Amino acid sequence: MRNLLLQLDSSRQASVFDQVVAYDGGADEIMSYGGVTPEDVRDLVHGCMFTRGPRDLRHTAVWIGGNNMSQGEQLLAMAVDAMFPPLTVSVMLDSNGSNTTAVAAVVKIEQAVGDLKGRKVVILAGTGPVGQRAAGLLARDGANVTITSRKPEQGEKARQFISARFNVQVEATTLSDPSQLAQVLDGAEVLLNSGPAGVQMVSRAAWGAVKTLKVAVDLNAVPPLGIEGIGVDDAGEQRGGVTAYGAFGVGNFKTKLHKRCVARLFERNDQVLDAEAIADIAREMAR
Ligand SMILES: NC(=O)c1ccc[n+]([C@@H]2O[C@H](COP(=O)([O-])OP(=O)(O)OC[C@H]3O[C@@H](n4cnc5c(N)ncnc54)[C@H](OP(=O)(O)O)[C@@H]3O)[C@@H](O)[C@H]2O)c1
Repeated sequence: MRNLLLQLDSSRQASVFDQVVAYDGGADEIMSYGGVTPEDVRDLVHGCMFTRGPRDLRHTAVWIGGNNMSQGEQLLAMAVDAMFPPLTVSVMLDSNGSNTTAVAAVVKIEQAVGDLKGRKVVILAGTGPVGQRAAGLLARDGANVTITSRKPEQGEKARQFISARFNVQVEATTLSDPSQLAQVLDGAEVLLNSGPAGVQMVSRAAWGAVKTLKVAVDLNAVPPLGIEGIGVDDAGEQRGGVTAYGAFGVGNFKTKLHKRCVARLFERNDQVLDAEAIADIAREMAR
């Protein structure tokens, strides 16, 4: 039986990137819808549920993507709400690659540091979808997570969202000028940059002065890179006594994880793959 993936994308045009990786991950056919709103979801998902018998439903799955994470979360909630046992299909949320990217970074950090309990983690520009997901997962690992934002109200909004979504406590601090970096990074053992493409967030001198630092991960692949002195291909290199990962160093694992998750969707008909479940899959892969 052919593996069918229903792609529900909140952006006007459904993501070609997600389609290519889905084919590589094991989908035989992709039924793509762009510009999907929460009101559209129920009928589209019912089209998956009532067509094949319960025993064959694992061969149909739902993929939720698009540029906007909060819209993606609404689509996921509507998809889950539309289903009832035994007529369920597996579903995954990865708006703009945020879940798979954050999880790939978190698992690299876990591998490098081991037990994260009580360790200070600073996530630069942690208000975006990738930073928020990473903050929640690292806080669930027991780390003391601080996210930075240029604006106090933005940081506070993200802090509240992360706390509610992951049931954890994280801190938010304002970083509007590089002169504040020394204080923000004081005592940090892990530094993760989730700032936008093409923006240097921290100089080599600033992070080099943090004697407690063990791991630095930069997710920005576009020059200038986000953490000066860390190569885009770094995948565990030692940089001044710090284990370094660049965007491609994390991205290679992210792509493998993305494909593995698509394959997993077709193994059972009752899975909801959001950040935590995707992290479990990534940890299995890392072992
Ligand atoms: N390797 C992969 O597969 C992959 C996949 C997805 C994303 N990524 C990368 O992961 C990173 C994070 O992605 P994202 O979508 O979460 O990021 P994003 O939403 O574009 O940006 C994150 C935060 O950066 C801050 N920001 C925006 N412009 C800034 C500027 N000029 N200077 C300093 N801060 C600025 C904003 O926070 P405040 O307004 O609160 O300051 C924003 O919330 C990006 O570099 C992206 O390219 C990689």
